[in-house]
Amino acid sequence: MRANTATHYGSVAKTFHWLTALLIITVIPLGIIANGLPFETSEELARKALLFSFHKTIGVAIFFVALARIAWAISQEKPGLLNTDKPVQAFLAEAVHWLLYGSLLLVPLTGWIHHAATTGFAPIWWPFGQSLPFIPKDVGLAETFAGLHVVFERVLVFALILHIAGALKHHFLDRDATLLRMLPGEPSVPQVAAHGRHLAPPIAALVIWAGAVGVGGAVGVYSHDEGVPRGPALETVQSDWVVQEGTIGLTVRQLGSDVTGSFADWTAAIAFNPKVSDGEAGQADVTINIASLTLGSVTSQALGADFFDAETFPTATYAGPILATPEGLIVDGTLTIRGIAQSLQLPFNLEIEDGVAAATGTATIDRRDFEIGRGQTDAATLGFEVVVSISLTAAQP
Ligand code: HEM
Ligand code: HEM
Repeated sequence: MRANTATHYGSVAKTFHWLTALLIITVIPLGIIANGLPFETSEELARKALLFSFHKTIGVAIFFVALARIAWAISQEKPGLLNTDKPVQAFLAEAVHWLLYGSLLLVPLTGWIHHAATTGFAPIWWPFGQSLPFIPKDVGLAETFAGLHVVFERVLVFALILHIAGALKHHFLDRDATLLRMLPGEPSVPQVAAHGRHLAPPIAALVIWAGAVGVGGAVGVYSHDEGVPRGPALETVQSDWVVQEGTIGLTVRQLGSDVTGSFADWTAAIAFNPKVSDGEAGQADVTINIASLTLGSVTSQALGADFFDAETFPTATYAGPILATPEGLIVDGTLTIRGIAQSLQLPFNLEIEDGVAAATGTATIDRRDFEIGRGQTDAATLGFEVVVSISLTAAQP
């Protein structure tokens, strides 16, 4: 029979149940293993991304299977529990069923929101895009939902252990038909009371979720800032033109998507004569506090020894003459990162209005020239090109 009766689960409910069980029991180890894998080298990063894509794709499938399953369950009669003579056990069984149903939505949804708020990570294998409506790319949001995902996943595992233990207890200790009636076939089932609708089990489930979210907050799972050493701020410099505001940003391709970040702390000493139309028009000396970098969800990796190595090389510098050329203004400078100096020409646009100069420019560097991410030898996992963009306004005091 396809439909449920007052005593038996129909084939549709059984198929949903065991399909879900199979998917859940696959997705959990995938998540734990993928999360624990290192990603120092290209091969490691590619393997980690592969497992995460598996995890996310199965997770999203679970979400849609769960929607269909819940719609089906609502449309169906619910077989009465076989142990209603033991109210505490019956309550526990029902509270766990609520936790399991809720988890089938909460766990994938939080994972999905975390994914949608992050850039440059393992894709979901499907043609419907990687974003979600109303979910901006935002590091804080991503970290909060990563934390919620883990909290709800722990509640799911807890509920699942109780659920499986209960099923085995019914089968082997109570020797009743609880497990058999979820399996193919129609075991004989004693006449049972119709399934009652009680409020206590769903309320208990809500209390458990709320408690788990609270414990997550207390142990700090919603922020991943692993105490990145930020170091002292740079001292202000004497300058002919004083920078009012600006950003130094960088963009790199990771696993096929652009990850963008910026340095919060940098200084620029700029001498510039706007009247010069050919030849040397000034000088720029920029110092960047490496530890002030934020780069999507990979800031601490980017600051680590394999990449910028902020501890050994706390600053990067860019210095050189500003030249007026027929093609426009350029800084003909030397960029020094990790103690390695390379010449770098930075063409820029300049507009001066009411004594305020607005400059914007971009240049592309190859991270290998500065030995950044030496283990990441495959451009498909982490691009070699890094686009540096500068935009600032400056005025003469
Ligand atoms: C029912 C479905 C799902 C279950 C049971 C599940 C379970 C898990 C588990 C067990 C972990 C490892 C946590 C740890 O190591 O402590 C994890 C991590 C993760 N999952 Fe899922 N997941 C599901 C769905 C999804 C979906 C749909 C996505 C994204 C589209 C996703 C994205 C992630 C991510 C990005 C992490 C790493 C979290 C971090 O950075 O801390 N998961 N998940
Ligand atoms: C492999 C381990 C599992 C076993 C042995 C198992 C066993 C059972 C049994 C025997 C029942 C029938 C309970 C009754 O008749 O009163 C049941 C029901 C149920 N199970 Fe499982 N189960 C497993 C995995 C899961 C998973 C992974 C989920 C979802 C996350 C789940 C969710 C449910 C729900 C919600 C019910 C209530 C019946 C319904 O509305 O479909 N089970 N399970």
